Amino acid sequence: MEKQFKRIGVLTSGGDAPGMNAAVRAVVRTALSRGIEVVGIRRGWAGLISADFVMLNASSVGHILSSGGTMLYTARSEEFITEKGQDKAVATCKMLGIDGIVAIGGDGTFRGALALSRKGIPVVGVPATIDNDVGCTNYTIGFDTACNTAIECIDRLRDTMQSHERCSVVEVMGRNAGFLALYVGIAVGATAVLVPEHDLDFQRDVVERIQDSRLAGNTHFMIVVAEGVGSAFDIGKKIHEAVGIEPRVTVLGHIQRGGAPTARDRETATRMGYYAVRAFAEGRSNVIIGTQEGGIVEIPIEEALQMKKHLQMERYEIMESMQIGLGAK
Ligand code: F6P
Repeated sequence: MEKQFKRIGVLTSGGDAPGMNAAVRAVVRTALSRGIEVVGIRRGWAGLISADFVMLNASSVGHILSSGGTMLYTARSEEFITEKGQDKAVATCKMLGIDGIVAIGGDGTFRGALALSRKGIPVVGVPATIDNDVGCTNYTIGFDTACNTAIECIDRLRDTMQSHERCSVVEVMGRNAGFLALYVGIAVGATAVLVPEHDLDFQRDVVERIQDSRLAGNTHFMIVVAEGVGSAFDIGKKIHEAVGIEPRVTVLGHIQRGGAPTARDRETATRMGYYAVRAFAEGRSNVIIGTQEGGIVEIPIEEALQMKKHLQMERYEIMESMQIGLGAK
């Protein structure tokens, strides 16, 4: 017989992302509309271990659609990686009568979800990380907002770089992936973009790009660096040594993780939250909700964690063409 989900838990885990609140709201409202109760688990997997929870009703998630951060708080839990921690989490689910968990986060969150599912607690994952580096989905909640925030910051930097005829090196987030750096780099017309997926040839990718841009008449230069490539300060120093100009270095940091979610993030988060609950309501679990070609898909969690998403290097070429074309006769 199909499992009946009468009460589910929802949590956010790992690095926060704008739109997580919209996803929590969608989970709660969809569940309630189907007669399913919702327990909010605070502080991610750590909160499931320590039974840190709050009952949620329709109004508990009022006015959060437009706010960044996560009303459920988030954490990274070392204890949850251990068997003992996972057993405590299972005990909390039993104690609270939780039939399944919606886990909102990135790959780390989903590894935790897989471990819990193997202990018999059904889970559904909703991808949310500004890095957009979850293999099974072409979009993760928070990416669009983070791109727009970084673009706004870099546009401001450009104003002063232009006035002073300077070079700027801007570090954006992306520990293992260059999605944010490359999309932002294209959108701000960067002189060069450094991403972990592209083997860096400093002479070709940075020095010659600045020199070509200079020859084309430019007097200010914008270098966007993904965090995973290395420190923007080191890149700045190397530019100074090689080209003789002294760049100004800016690390955008956690600014990129905050702020009101964009339309895309609110809409995607709402759809993903809705489909997460629908999976439970229709008796499916242990899947990640993803987007592919604009539509929503469900991928078995084990398979999802094996999937790799590659940065489209065509985008890298497009970014380069915008600058190389500048110097062409
Ligand atoms: O959310 C992912 C991410 O943005 C990475 O790009 C970054 O390295 C990391 O979070 C930093 O997170 P924290 O400082 O919260 O540990």
